[in-house]
Formats: sequence, C-alpha cells, structure tokens
Amino acid sequence: MSKKLQAVRGMRDVLPPDARRFAHVERIAHDVLLGYGYELLQLPLLESTELFARGVGEATDIVEKEMYTLADRDGDSLSLRPEGTASCVRALQEHGLLFNQTQKVFYSGPMFRYERPQRGRYRQFSQVGAEVFGFSGPDVDAELIVLLAECWERLGLTGHVRLELNTLGAGDARRAYREALVAYLTPLEGQLDPDSQRRLQTNPMRILDSKNRDTQALLADAPVLQNFVDAASLEHFETLCGMLDAAGVAYTVNPNLVRGLDYYTHTVFEWITDDLGAQGTICGGGRYDGLVAQLGGKPTPGAGFGMGVDRVALLHETVHQREFGRSADLYICLHDTDLFATAMGLNKRLRNAFNDFKVRVNMGGGALGKQLKKANASGARWALILGEQEVRDGVLALKDLQTGEQVTLPEAAVIEHIRAH
Ligand code: HAM
Repeated sequence: MSKKLQAVRGMRDVLPPDARRFAHVERIAHDVLLGYGYELLQLPLLESTELFARGVGEATDIVEKEMYTLADRDGDSLSLRPEGTASCVRALQEHGLLFNQTQKVFYSGPMFRYERPQRGRYRQFSQVGAEVFGFSGPDVDAELIVLLAECWERLGLTGHVRLELNTLGAGDARRAYREALVAYLTPLEGQLDPDSQRRLQTNPMRILDSKNRDTQALLADAPVLQNFVDAASLEHFETLCGMLDAAGVAYTVNPNLVRGLDYYTHTVFEWITDDLGAQGTICGGGRYDGLVAQLGGKPTPGAGFGMGVDRVALLHETVHQREFGRSADLYICLHDTDLFATAMGLNKRLRNAFNDFKVRVNMGGGALGKQLKKANASGARWALILGEQEVRDGVLALKDLQTGEQVTLPEAAVIEHIRAH
C-alpha cells in the first residue's frame, strides 16, 4: 500500500478560521506600518546561500544548522530565506536605493528554519519585518518600538506582552567583550552544558542566553557587557529609554539579551509574552549599523524588527478566543431556488450597507427548517427568509437567531433594524 500523503514535518496548514485570524494580524501590522510611512516591498524566497552566511553570520544557529539549502541545476547553492533582513539589504543595495538616501520599508511572508517543531515553532513560519536605513539616531529605534506597541494595542494584546531592551555597543565593544567572555569561560569549559561548550568556540555571546541553570550560575561572575560598551552607545541607549518613557512604553533592560543573529550593534529588543509557554518571543529586532558595509555597500546605519505572525496569532487566539468564530453575519434562506437572483442582489446591497459584513446565501435548496439550522451553524446573528409573497409585497422576513424574534419589513427598514441591534 502506498504511504499516506501528509504535510512535511514543521510545515503547517493554517485552517479556517485560524487563517482569517492570521490575516487579521498581518493586516493590522501592514496598516500601522503604512500609517507610519513605511513602503511595502516583496523579496524572493530563494537567495544565494552566501548572502545568509555573510549577513546573518557563519557561526549562528541559523546558518550552521537551520537552513534549507539546495543546489539548483547550475550547481549554485541556494537557500530558502531563514529571515528577511539580509535579503532586504541585498535588494535595496542591488537597486541603488541605499546610496545617499533614507529608506523605511517592510515585507511580509514565509521564512524557513530547520528547527525542532513544537507549538509556536515551525519550519515554515511567517514574519512581518520592517527595516529602516540611513538614520543613526535613537529616534528610529524608538519609532520601531512605539509602532509595535500600537500594533499590540490595535490587536487587543497590550497587557499580554512586555518589552526587553539591551545595548550591545558598537562592533569594537562586542569584539572586546567576546574576548573577555571567552577568557573567563575557557577554564570553566568542562562545567558548561554541551550547547554552551560548542558555542564557546563559535558564538560565545549566545551562552548568555542559555537556559541551563548551572551555566547561568557560572555566568554570575562573568564580565558584564555594559562595562565594554562605549560612551556614545550608552548615550544612544539612554536617549532611547527617555523617548520610550515619554511615549509611555514600559520596558525592562535585560543585560543578557544578545539575540541570535550576528549583525546587531547598539540597541536590541524583544517583545515577549508569558501566555504561550516556551515560544514566547513574538517579535525581535534592533540596530545593525555594520550590515550594509558587510554585504558590500557603503557604510549605512540600519534598524528593524521581525514580528512572528504565527506566534502573534496564537496569542490573539489565547486572549480573544471567541472572535473569528463566525463565517457569516446574515444567512439568506430561500423558499424557492427561483429566488436565487433576488437573493444575490440583496446580498450585494446588504454588504454595501455595512462595514465588514458577511452574507451567506443558502445553497442546494432544502426545507426551510433545514436552512435555518444551517443559518444557526454558520454563526450568523440574522436569517433573512425570502418567499414569493414577500418579494411580491416588497418586504423581507428577518429573524434574530439569538432571540428568535421575527419581523417583516421593507428592505431599507431591515438595514435600519440590523443597524439598531
Ligand atoms: P528573529 O528573532 O530570528 O529575528 O525572528 C523574529 C521573530 O520571528 C521571532 O521573534 C519569532 O516571533 C519569529 N520566529 C522565529 N523563528 C520562528 C519559528 N521557527 N517559528 C515561528 N516563529 C518564529 C529576525 O529574523 C530578524 N531578521 C529580525 C530583524 C529585522 N532584526 C532587524 N531587522
């Protein structure tokens, strides 16, 4: 017998009504970004593997072990994008859009990482990402954070998310700190957890992120990153904190927040929820002032974020379970299938009369009782019952499926009645 066909592990089908919730999250994020003057950009899903090796960093988990890499028919090594920032820099650079100008852009869509799948962590997941180029001041960092706070507010998630911030300093500070950390941890190597032992050679700053208790205990006396950060960077960070205070955005400074990608300098931040268990980071970002030059461009400051749409949608479901339950607001029942054209005309006029109003017309005939059952199952609040006599008299029978009350009214009065309830 042939094997049952099913989705590839970690590649998720988002079914109704979850996909509608997912689209709602994307739509709100797009609206907010467009409102702040960011321009939408579309980027390819496949890029040269080298872009991510040079952009994200050879020694990062993403490049070391999480990329979907394939050889195309010419033998070139390509990878499905694991993130959007490197592609975005590549694209703007390639089209001459970074030279002597500023840019505020955003993109949206799937990313691919070969991680161990669990709730909130998938091998194909979606991000809405924003990137800003050509501004070196903390006002841009503040704007990115404030507009995210506005996204959470519009989604009804404020109070379920918190913000953590840190500064990594300029590239020199990172390098000096890295050396000091390696010098401190090398004699203790045998006591570190296996992951941290490996990272000691490849990406030692990620050890600060370790969840292992013994490793965390060893880190208690480790050199502190803040002591290596240059004065200008500290001032940048303090100004940012002042701007967030003034904007009323609460945050905590987490000196161990380093993020998993190599390109960050100065500000880094994460939005975290405690409502989703282990996969609680719903958005991460920061500054990457060295990335454009690292990818072959003229030195250009940059900053941005990636919002994990899957996780934000999961959080939205946890907080607002009841929304998105209904697929219709009004269900049209037909005494006779000959009334179909009338029903379709009515459908259009009703949807035009309201904002975001969903109308389903009964399909496939059936007795009125059965049609009303389907109306109830659709989640609709209202049923409109169309009969020859009513159509002749220019009226409609409108049933409130919550109360069972039924009224017979002309079309304009039906609209008023719905509006009033
Ligand atoms: P990142 O922290 O790797 O940053 O990813 C951003 C967000 O994508 C995470 O906070 C999380 O919500 C979501 N995410 C990551 N991996 C998965 C996964 N396997 N399953 C579900 N969701 C996931 C970046 O990608 C940077 N490019 C962000 C950035 C833009 N920094 C500056 N500009």
